[in-house]
Amino acid sequence: MAAAFVGGALLGAVFGELLKAVSEEKDKAVTFKDRLEKLESTLRNSIPWIEEIEKLNQVLDRPKQETENLVRMMEQGEQLVRKCSKVKWNCFKRYVYAKKIIKLDTSISDFFRTSLPLQHARDGKLIMVEVKEIHTMVRRMSGNGNINGWMSNQVGDCCSAPDPPVITPGLDVPLKELKMELFKDGRQFIVVSAPGGYGKTTLVQRLCKDDQVQGKFKDDIFYVTVSKNPNVKAIVQKVLHHKGYPVPEFQTDEAAINDLERFFKQMRTEAILLVLDDVWPGSESLLQKLGFQLPDYKILVTSRSEFPQFGSVHYLKPLTYEAARTLFLHSANLQDGNSYIPDENIVSKILRACKGCPLALKVVGGSLCGKQEVFWQRMVKECSRGESVFQSKNDILDCLGSSLDVLNNEVKECYLDLRSFPEDQRIPITALIDMWMELYELVDDVFAITNLHELSSQNLVDRVVTRKTAGDYGCYNDDFVMQHDLLRELTICRSKSEPINQRKRLVVEISGNNFPKWWMDQKQHPNNASLLSISTDETFSSNWPDMQGPEVKVVVLNIRTKKYILPDFLQKMDELKVLIVTNYGFSPAELNNFRVLSALSKLKKVRLEHVSLPNSLATVRMSHLQKVSLVMCNVGQVFRNSTFRISDAFPNLLEMDIDYCNDLIELPDGLCDIVSMEKLRITNCHRLSALPEGIGKLGNLQTLTLAACTELSALPDTIGNLSHLNFLDISECLNIRKFPARFGELCCLKTLCVIGCPISEVPSTNLENLQVVICDEETAEQLAYSPPGRARIEVIQEDSNLNFLH
Ligand SMILES: *[C@@H]1O[C@H](CO)[C@@H](O)[C@H](O)[C@H]1NC(C)=O
Ligand SMILES: *[C@@H]1O[C@H](CO)[C@@H](O)[C@H](O)[C@H]1NC(C)=O
Ligand SMILES: *[C@@H]1O[C@H](CO)[C@@H](O)[C@H](O)[C@H]1NC(C)=O
Repeated sequence: MAAAFVGGALLGAVFGELLKAVSEEKDKAVTFKDRLEKLESTLRNSIPWIEEIEKLNQVLDRPKQETENLVRMMEQGEQLVRKCSKVKWNCFKRYVYAKKIIKLDTSISDFFRTSLPLQHARDGKLIMVEVKEIHTMVRRMSGNGNINGWMSNQVGDCCSAPDPPVITPGLDVPLKELKMELFKDGRQFIVVSAPGGYGKTTLVQRLCKDDQVQGKFKDDIFYVTVSKNPNVKAIVQKVLHHKGYPVPEFQTDEAAINDLERFFKQMRTEAILLVLDDVWPGSESLLQKLGFQLPDYKILVTSRSEFPQFGSVHYLKPLTYEAARTLFLHSANLQDGNSYIPDENIVSKILRACKGCPLALKVVGGSLCGKQEVFWQRMVKECSRGESVFQSKNDILDCLGSSLDVLNNEVKECYLDLRSFPEDQRIPITALIDMWMELYELVDDVFAITNLHELSSQNLVDRVVTRKTAGDYGCYNDDFVMQHDLLRELTICRSKSEPINQRKRLVVEISGNNFPKWWMDQKQHPNNASLLSISTDETFSSNWPDMQGPEVKVVVLNIRTKKYILPDFLQKMDELKVLIVTNYGFSPAELNNFRVLSALSKLKKVRLEHVSLPNSLATVRMSHLQKVSLVMCNVGQVFRNSTFRISDAFPNLLEMDIDYCNDLIELPDGLCDIVSMEKLRITNCHRLSALPEGIGKLGNLQTLTLAACTELSALPDTIGNLSHLNFLDISECLNIRKFPARFGELCCLKTLCVIGCPISEVPSTNLENLQVVICDEETAEQLAYSPPGRARIEVIQEDSNLNFLH
């Protein structure tokens, strides 16, 4: 068996040597016989994986660096194994060696278990699809490097800790102390406690990225954001998914927790670290249940409360004056030498008002960045206004509040809208653009984006880009923002002062089926909101009471159930322009009752995330709809239903986005008859195998994006008919090797993106308007032999972080 690998590519060869060494030595090194036998069986079980990696490397013609660590691990392993038979009676050495073998064994099995979670689809072609898929995903996760990140948005990068901010002054000492606490044989729970905005999350993020911590806990650090209403089943599902295990459906929270306990016990690892970020008071019973009896299993909690009954409390203190000053000056960007330099007196007053709270320092600093002296003085006044009256927390809210007040009105309104999305979740920028364009009647999405830039330059939101090139070309599919929960609270506090029926934004969080009293009371009285957001949990039964919102323009529904019925009252909301439905549960939600949308003559945009489209969509007609976005949706059932014609359902679409729809195999019937279509974006649909010839009928199409549709092997010849097409993106379509014959007829084409495509030539004959070909280094090299006429070649520097061994 081993011999079959020798002489193969490098990885196979090294693997073969290791396996050979193990089988030879296991009989000689009596002391280690058992351990070596186990290692041997791990290795034999890994043979199919090794073969797959080899295949992957060939198919993708990639350098071997992705497998370098594995190769190194195996080389060291071989040396280790060879030495085993020489260890005689030195007890300590025997112990050390035994430990090393165990470690090697676990590292190898972990590698295959966590890095290639493919167990469920192991036959032939499917494997290649999945391998490529993963490969593409890994590519797209630059900066994040976690293979499980592919589930995009909410299901999120499962359980890897996010990267901490670049600048974190004053955290070195707390980090050291927390680490000591963690490594001590102390209690199972460690609670990091401080008021909101003091950097608890940043501290644990740094801890998770710390070398010593990673050395001890390896891949068994699970980072979970708990928030106010913890979704226990989803938390467990994420952990299992993170480790590459099949994800079961749980009936109850108890069942989920039992499964997690069993799973942790089976993991044969030396140490496990479970980080529970943002735990709210009232979650004691959850903490209790998670405290399994396991050796070296630590639970690190961040919370505004202390949970003293659970373990050692680690208080995170406010920043020292010096650290606060560093962070503040950095946030106000005062190092660049151009801005107004306030005198130290002003700075120190602001620092005092911020009370060493990192969030306040960042936000206040951000809001003063580049501002004239008067703004600084005003800030000093506003910040110190209530100093003696309020307690420290309110004080900080005051400071933060005054940073909001310097925003221009539209930006501020945009900011207040963010709370229509749930706490601690990434908010997709595409959803914000859809919503703001209609709420504020923006003529171009550029205005929405500049508003976002403003918020992010003031540190009021954190921008998360999961793909480096995103956004450069008007495609924001991989772009998100996050809002600090204290800042979210601030916006909630502000809205509370208004009577419900007068609020412009009505944000409702419903737990179970308990509708708030005002809702039940107001049946007869219309509200005055233009933005309505309703969040429901996994026990919601979709029995909707009536609501009258004659002014509602945007509805945001945040859901967690597996079945969800759109409320009937939507059909009376005549002003409704945008509907955004996002499912934050682990499995797709079946969404029903689309008929309520049929009569809405102003409804322009519908965005659905992580839902299943029902067959009944075949009977619905939304003739005014201009844009449909389907993200991580199950579309297969209805798209394949012969009674469904998309051109009947949405006859006048201008834009369609389909992203991460894993069961999209063919485009739906009739898509090519929607001749009004101007922008079609199909991204990350790894099973889409062909485009219909009919695509040539979309004579108004200007933008066509087919990025990361890895199975697509050709563009149809009729693409030449798209006489208005000016933007084409086929980046990361790993199977498109050349353009069709009539490609050269695209007389309007200006921009062509071929990042990561095996394209070697762009036919330039008639592409008179082609201005730029955007590609990666590899593609650029290939294109060098046949340059695309007058077009410029722009090379994107990708840090293709293919290091899935970490
Ligand atoms: C409803 O909102 C509009 C502006 O959005 C405002 O002009 C009007 O006075 C409000 N009506 C009530 C009853 O609050
Ligand atoms: C197709 O959709 C129709 C209309 O909703 C439904 O009655 C029918 O059962 C569906 N067919 C299949 C094969 O699912
Ligand atoms: C594409 O254009 C050609 C003529 O250039 C025409 O014969 C053909 O019918 C068109 N195809 C489609 C699908 O529109």
